[in-house]
Amino acid sequence: MTAQYVGAIDQGTTGTRFMVFDHSGTVVANAYEKHEQIYPEPGWVEHDATEIWDNTKSVIQTALADAGISADELAALGVTNQRETTLLWDAESGQPIHNAIVWQDRRTTDRIETLREEGKADDVQQKTGLEPDAYFSATKAEWLLDNADPIKLSRSRPQDVRDRAEEGEIMFGTIDTWVIYNLTGNHITDVTNASRTMLFNIHDMDWDEELTDEFNVPPETLPEVRPSSDEDYYGHTDEEGFLGAEVPVAGALGDQQAALFGQTCFDAGDAKNTYGTGSFMLMNTGNEAVMSENGLLTTVGFQRSGEPVQYALEGSIFVTGAAIEWLEDMTLIENAAETEQLARSVDSTDGVYVVPAFTGLGAPHWDQRARGTILGMTRGTRREHVVRATLESIAFQTKDVAEAMVEDSGIELGSLRVDGGAVKNNFLCQQQANIIDTDIVRPVVDETTALGSAYAAGLAVGYWETIDELRDNWQIDRSFSPDADADSVADRYARWGEAVERSKDWARD
Ligand code: G3P
Repeated sequence: MTAQYVGAIDQGTTGTRFMVFDHSGTVVANAYEKHEQIYPEPGWVEHDATEIWDNTKSVIQTALADAGISADELAALGVTNQRETTLLWDAESGQPIHNAIVWQDRRTTDRIETLREEGKADDVQQKTGLEPDAYFSATKAEWLLDNADPIKLSRSRPQDVRDRAEEGEIMFGTIDTWVIYNLTGNHITDVTNASRTMLFNIHDMDWDEELTDEFNVPPETLPEVRPSSDEDYYGHTDEEGFLGAEVPVAGALGDQQAALFGQTCFDAGDAKNTYGTGSFMLMNTGNEAVMSENGLLTTVGFQRSGEPVQYALEGSIFVTGAAIEWLEDMTLIENAAETEQLARSVDSTDGVYVVPAFTGLGAPHWDQRARGTILGMTRGTRREHVVRATLESIAFQTKDVAEAMVEDSGIELGSLRVDGGAVKNNFLCQQQANIIDTDIVRPVVDETTALGSAYAAGLAVGYWETIDELRDNWQIDRSFSPDADADSVADRYARWGEAVERSKDWARD
């Protein structure tokens, strides 16, 4: 059977999606499953990696069966994933030795503060491009090596996890590595995911010995680092395995970099913003790793086999879509779709500002101890105002990182390509255009994360031959141009800044 399609596994924070694309980049199959969010203590967030792998197999099987597509028809598989989330598994049994620690988890906040007090933050930032924070994998891996329960190990000898790690019996991975390992049996990550660990030197493009020493992560545990689109392939699925076919696994990118690739932001200055659990605005800076002076991250954008690395500046906002989920949890809304009509039913937030700093503040503020706050409520405040203020908080947070990005890159934003679940909300898109005073452009395929990893895998196997074919696939669904009074936007943005200041440094041990 000829391979007519490319498949993409998108393993995100709240669930796992499998999508199949044809040559025009059109979605021909799609299935999604949520997984459990585990909160063992306040500020801690874990995932069961076994559940994630079971769901991955299940969504692949469901999507293919529903669309009547056979696995033999897949030219390649790409992987994209929630980044930074960290796990360790037993190299012999392949079983996780603890739940994965999720990127949102704050349990290693003190460890980062110690690093800062010891005056090591600048050095870490120079090497990794990252603002030291509990967000990244390094301190999560260190915590697991020190705290994972040895009795959970499959071997009977009650040996320390760290000892076994030093003997090469434990594997470290981010979620891409876990999925690739289960698909192919190989211990591999791609350059974009490696760049989020805080153990990887983005200038040398290799694991950094000083950093693995600093965070006490034995190099024996680390995966091999490969390009995001790899003509040598990471491996193949097993014909005898769950898929029943030998399909090359040839592309992987962290989800935000995948969205950059899927939005065809291939040139320096191209930028996108993805509205998922959090929002992540990335600008391609070409072959230059532009170091931020305004609280952004410097990260690897993507790399194709045999080509130099393309870097990106990133503004990581921890909570945007998750704030809508919170509205739902608080029973202020029944579903996300309802927020558009509720927000439009009032003229303004009536002075209410919501700062959804539930897991601290990311870029450009970097305050691990900030917490969510609502300001400006009166006896007349209604849920419509709170809903509208929550949507506006998404747009304001994006403005915070967009300003930093223009400052760091020296490039004015001509327009901003957007994607992710929340961009279905036209009110949000219009507010976003107004608040950053820039055209917002929404493409037809808004699942650009999955599309980007499909593109990376498809390019590696020659399903697509050039990136120009991908550019031709990209089509606008709708553009939103600024239409608000600039003075009133400036006033509201100033008030937003004050609200953010009040959310800072709130959590105590
Ligand atoms: O850095 C975290 C990010 O990769 C999570 O993305 O889409 O799962 O919220 P998402």
